[in-house]
Amino acid sequence: VSSPFIYNPNPKKPYAPRRANDLYPTPKGLAQAMVSRTWSWLGPRAKDVLDPGAGGGVFGEVMKRHEPDATVVGVELDKTLEPHPAYDYWYSEDYLTWQTDMRFNLIIGNPPYSLAEEFIRKSFTLLRDEGAIVFLLRLGFLGGQARARGLWNDFHLDEVAICSRRPSFTGNGKTDGHEYAVFTWAKGWGAPHVVWLEWEYEAGDLYAKETR
Ligand SMILES: C[S@@+](CC[C@H](N)C(=O)[O-])C[C@H]1O[C@@H](n2cnc3c(N)ncnc32)[C@H](O)[C@@H]1O
Repeated sequence: VSSPFIYNPNPKKPYAPRRANDLYPTPKGLAQAMVSRTWSWLGPRAKDVLDPGAGGGVFGEVMKRHEPDATVVGVELDKTLEPHPAYDYWYSEDYLTWQTDMRFNLIIGNPPYSLAEEFIRKSFTLLRDEGAIVFLLRLGFLGGQARARGLWNDFHLDEVAICSRRPSFTGNGKTDGHEYAVFTWAKGWGAPHVVWLEWEYEAGDLYAKETR
């Protein structure tokens, strides 16, 4: 059990400790579905793309494969992670204190859940007019009184695309029991709407052996 303050209703099955910096790699198939869906309406405006908390570089790889002409920038706290070659620029820095003059049409990725709100707020400071922020988050992120009065009030959410297939972040197909969704903020849309995002694992996404 990672913390004595977290109530675990089933002590025989201890909670897995959280990984350092919330490093949970996104299946490429899901990143691809996020990029395709965003591209379908943002299109050529997605020229300058930022992936904050880039990790192993799934989003950069998929973005470049989809749109070779886009300029893709990654920011990653963990200095031990090698920059993925798909990125045009890579900064081994804390995204929340990262200083840059660059501005982006698309900020897309899977931020550390423990810093999700901070990542969203920082992203708005780096977003061009008519740009979009597209983040994979737990569906439960919608809840909470503080966010209802704060974040959801401060920034207009445009779309919640629920991952109809629950993603595995462990490479073995096992899921963590949370529902996930792709949240899109795009300045200037109407009322927020809910859709369902269909996606499939790609070859290589399920690399780990099924355990137990
Ligand atoms: C959920 S993982 C996602 C990794 C990758 N984007 C993917 O989708 O596979 C979150 C990533 O954010 C990084 N991270 C955590 N805190 C950060 C910070 N303050 N600044 C930049 N990166 C951070 C972690 O090291 C980790 O690589």
